[in-house]
Amino acid sequence: MRPTLLTFDSIDSTNTEALKRAREGSDEGLCIVARTQTAGRGRHGRSWVSENDAGLYFSILLRPTIEPRSLSLITLMAGVAVHDTLEDLGLAPDIKWVNDVLVDEKKIAGILAETTETEKGVAVIVGIGINILRSNLPPEIQDTATSIEDHTEALPAMRLAERLIARLRYFYDVLQRVDGTDAIVDEWRRRSTYFAGKPVRAITPNETILGVTDGLEQNGGLRIITDEGTTRIIQAGEIQQLRSRQT
Ligand code: BTN
Repeated sequence: MRPTLLTFDSIDSTNTEALKRAREGSDEGLCIVARTQTAGRGRHGRSWVSENDAGLYFSILLRPTIEPRSLSLITLMAGVAVHDTLEDLGLAPDIKWVNDVLVDEKKIAGILAETTETEKGVAVIVGIGINILRSNLPPEIQDTATSIEDHTEALPAMRLAERLIARLRYFYDVLQRVDGTDAIVDEWRRRSTYFAGKPVRAITPNETILGVTDGLEQNGGLRIITDEGTTRIIQAGEIQQLRSRQT
């Protein structure tokens, strides 16, 4: 993958722009960075706060050659890359399945991977938002979100983008190796306290499951041993840490 960088002062969403360019035939490695987004998108139809110069708003276009059933590992791969980018700055990040990067149990970065069919084959857009300044955290998310500035000296978004792109290149290469699936699951395991032994509530599109995490499947699904003693595999949804088994 050879990165090329396209920057915007303002855009609706870097993911929307990257999806459009993917369908128009842009090459793998196209990276889009905006100083602000007017319609930044998060998972589950939420919006992503994107104040001017207060965060990194970034999308990369990938045209992976891995098997379709492994495509969900791209999200895990991106989580690992974001984790290491922040660790390099002296932070101590954790990764909450599937793609929230936390510091001190508060969300500092989010990842939104979107897939589209194009004439050149399947394209995956990996959108990454990282809070750099506290001013990107409106009062209603201050209890659950954090920023780089809360933990160390802030840096310009473009410097952060350069570091992130280097990590994404590295781990994307790892994912495309013959043993890439196992390798990425292993890299994720080493960086996430959610991998195993964590009491959680899993809110899936169909149900809520209470249990303890028990590792990842090869396709990135999260295994949970339920309170009833059965093993369930979660492919989509949201995980909440349970502090006490009464909650
Ligand atoms: C999440 O809900 O945690 C995912 C948030 C992803 C936000 C980023 S910001 C850059 C890119 N463009 C978007 O519209 N969303 C992603």
